[in-house]
Amino acid sequence: LQEKGLKQIRESEDLKQINDIRVNLLGKKGPITEVLRGMKDLSAEERPKIGSFSNAIKNELAEAIRLKNEELEIKKTAKKLEKEKIDVTLPGAQIQLGQPHVIAQVIEELEDLFLGMGYQVVSGPEIEEDHYNFEMLNLPADHPARDMQDTFYITKELLMRTQTSPVQARTMETHDFSKGPLKMVSPGKVYRRDTDDATHSHQFHQFEGLVIDKHVTMADLKGTIELIAKTVFGEEQEIRLRPSYFPFTEPSVEVDVTCFKCHGKGCSICKYTGWLEVLGAGMVHPNVLRMAGVDPEVYGGFAFGLGPDRFAMLKYSIDDIRNFYLNDNRFLSQFTKRG
Ligand code: PHE
Repeated sequence: LQEKGLKQIRESEDLKQINDIRVNLLGKKGPITEVLRGMKDLSAEERPKIGSFSNAIKNELAEAIRLKNEELEIKKTAKKLEKEKIDVTLPGAQIQLGQPHVIAQVIEELEDLFLGMGYQVVSGPEIEEDHYNFEMLNLPADHPARDMQDTFYITKELLMRTQTSPVQARTMETHDFSKGPLKMVSPGKVYRRDTDDATHSHQFHQFEGLVIDKHVTMADLKGTIELIAKTVFGEEQEIRLRPSYFPFTEPSVEVDVTCFKCHGKGCSICKYTGWLEVLGAGMVHPNVLRMAGVDPEVYGGFAFGLGPDRFAMLKYSIDDIRNFYLNDNRFLSQFTKRG
């Protein structure tokens, strides 16, 4: 019994098994208990002999079980630890990072440029008053040039702004010229009643610029636009100004940059002219200054408005403006900002 018991104990492999062995060998119905229970039938000389012998075996087996139990407990813990081990030196799981929208990237680049030159960045309401979107910009009620911009009207007085130029009027009106010149840019969304296609969107972006000071000339405007072109499209860019018409500027110009695909040689992108039209600009009309409470005899300035959508399309050869608004990450993730 002793040997058989010790062998069983030695060979047991888990805690349940060892517990079963303990119950079998040492339990109430086990052989040793049985022997001890039968002691009363033994003679007086036999009793102490058998008693101490049985007890010795009982103790030996109990001790062997205790040791085996301990050993198995340690093994179990070790196994558990092994399973739960964390290698802190492993590289972390790659997290998919987003990126600013390509239009936001173009706007940020321009904002940085102008902030560096001491301009303030101003925003205005997208639901705008007719007063600021048109009247204050020298476009009275039945001015034919209102047709240039198909407008979403909300009420007779309220509309979705068709341009960021109303922010000019709002800022001019509140600017305190005794504190210095006004230099501002204003990026934002604008809306026009267009049928969406590859080159039209009922919602797009503009980036407005305005400088009002005492001795601002067209040369300042040209230099500023040149800087925009070189910053966004590259150092080798040249610009040209063409006479144009906007009700709120006089003279007005449209600005072209050398086609960066063919470098002025002519290709399908620039319709074989070598130039790409990128923005509208001009010297602020005296009427606009006057309406905003600025004396045109003392102050003057320039304004420009460009389209970040168009800039991004030209810069990255994107042929469909709708890509910007579909939220397809396969498109958007191509413009991962670095650095
Ligand atoms: N607001 C004009 C447009 O939407 C652009 C512009 C801005 C022209 C400022 C001149 C000066 O077409």
